[in-house]
Amino acid sequence: MNILGLHIFGHDTGAALISEGKLMAIGEERVDRRKHSGSFPVLSVTYLLKAMGLKNINDVDLVVGVTRYGKDGRDKTGDSIREKLGYSGRIHTISHHEAHAASAFFASPFDEAAVMVVDGLGSSALEIETEKQLPFMLRGLPFKDVKNYEEVQSFYRARGNEITGIRKDYTVPGYMNGIGLVYMGTSVFLNFGDFGSGKVMGLAPYGGQPGKTIDEPFVEIVDGVALASSEKNFVRHNDLYRKRFFPNIPPRQQEKLPDDVYTEIAYAVQTATENTLIEMARHLYRISPSKNLCYAGGVGLNSVANKKILDNTPFERIFIQPGACDSGIALGCVLHGAHIIHREPPGKYRLRNAYLGRTYSEEEILADLAGVKNISFRKERDVALTAAQLLAQGKILGWFEGGSEIGPRALGHRSIICDPRKPEMKDTLNARVKHREGFRPFAPSVLLENVSEYFDLDCESPYMLLIADVKEDKRHLVPAITHIDGTARVQTVTREDNGRYYDLIREFGRITGVPVILNTSYNIAGEPIVETPGDALKCFMSTEMDYLVVEDYLIEATGPKELVHGPVIDENKLKAVDIRQKQWLGKLFSKKKGAT
Ligand SMILES: [Fe+2]
Repeated sequence: MNILGLHIFGHDTGAALISEGKLMAIGEERVDRRKHSGSFPVLSVTYLLKAMGLKNINDVDLVVGVTRYGKDGRDKTGDSIREKLGYSGRIHTISHHEAHAASAFFASPFDEAAVMVVDGLGSSALEIETEKQLPFMLRGLPFKDVKNYEEVQSFYRARGNEITGIRKDYTVPGYMNGIGLVYMGTSVFLNFGDFGSGKVMGLAPYGGQPGKTIDEPFVEIVDGVALASSEKNFVRHNDLYRKRFFPNIPPRQQEKLPDDVYTEIAYAVQTATENTLIEMARHLYRISPSKNLCYAGGVGLNSVANKKILDNTPFERIFIQPGACDSGIALGCVLHGAHIIHREPPGKYRLRNAYLGRTYSEEEILADLAGVKNISFRKERDVALTAAQLLAQGKILGWFEGGSEIGPRALGHRSIICDPRKPEMKDTLNARVKHREGFRPFAPSVLLENVSEYFDLDCESPYMLLIADVKEDKRHLVPAITHIDGTARVQTVTREDNGRYYDLIREFGRITGVPVILNTSYNIAGEPIVETPGDALKCFMSTEMDYLVVEDYLIEATGPKELVHGPVIDENKLKAVDIRQKQWLGKLFSKKKGAT
């Protein structure tokens, strides 16, 4: 049985394929090399068919996609799939939130769970055919308009092969948007763009300064669910967001150091998001009690809020798969096909790890290496040990191993890694490789057995989706991964799921006494994470990374690199920014200390 899941409209399109019981997935951005690509995922489908040994799209028995209604009221997903792929078999479509829910539950380790989906916008309500089907919040509104509304937050109850909807809320133009759009609107307002929510989250802890906080609730809780009053799609029209929330504050215009007002906005919206999600999760628990919460949708990437949900609701365990945002929609579609349509055994496709991309053979790696000038490479007997020694010497490494990760986080298969013990490492990494905003934190990977020793966390966080406090007596040991508020976005690493990446951290721990490394995604700002060894080499040769590890091979540059960002950096300017930032951070640190 071969089942294909597709996400074909919107952003972060992609595909997932189940063939003979094996599950693989890839995002289109990884193969077409355009960040957040919204192209029809032809390249992803080709990639997966080849990786699974299928010769033809019509070897696929079932395709599951997400509904998208045209102006004529017809679902255009099926036609699009047939036209673009030449597929003639069975096609089934589900709503965007159904796909998120399937990705959250069927990938989870739970036999039963409550499921929460929160994102910007999902599918329209066209599947509602009679007034009797209208959800609570839409009753009383003109029925003919209702079909244009879009999913914004959904609750489900899941057990075995069943996922049952228990509540769904829709946007209503001029009135309701959910917390996802408020957060996205904030990102646009702060000049971080549609996909800058992570930057807002990273900026927020600098805010909360006494006397400066912004008292804006952003949302109202109606019947246990959060709704923000605003215009539909107000994130596209910054003036609407501004008019609604900050009429006297102009949108932030350019990349510069965050100053008090915008930092306080980030802090206020993050706080409102956390409180709102806690309320929503408590409401879900009241109407569908369970020890287990599965959670998906773009808001599920807010790792700070995720930990607060876990700490402040009756749910005892939380599962969020690594593609919680739309990069996991295709995964949800394929799991819906396998469990709900094909009735495969419950739990069969529980996610063991995030590595759903294909692996690359030694021949492919050597072919890519042969095409690059000015490098030397050698095969190592124990590449984890060699790499750990280089890290301990302060080197910055690219690390490429096995199949790529689903979702936006690099989890040790397509990562850039370095020593977290050096306070200056964050600035060095930014100046030489990543070129991203200095206020954003870098994350740690830690062996699971050491997590509680270093962090205030006593559960697994394999997908880097939980924030935890760095233990006070350990902060001086890992300054490069400790954020300004003393937290870190933790990835726990086990031998069973992570193989060589586990060995690398263990060896680094043996050498240094600190079983923690700094892990950031293998890309430079504005580019997707690398997929092939060739992509990794290209990125290596355009940055000042010191070494690159591809499987057993250690690669070093022997001649000049063609730096993409290097030559345009004005070192004096960089130094000035660095000094200003240090002064500014120092000021905040001392204020924070004074406040506690
Ligand atoms: Fe979504």
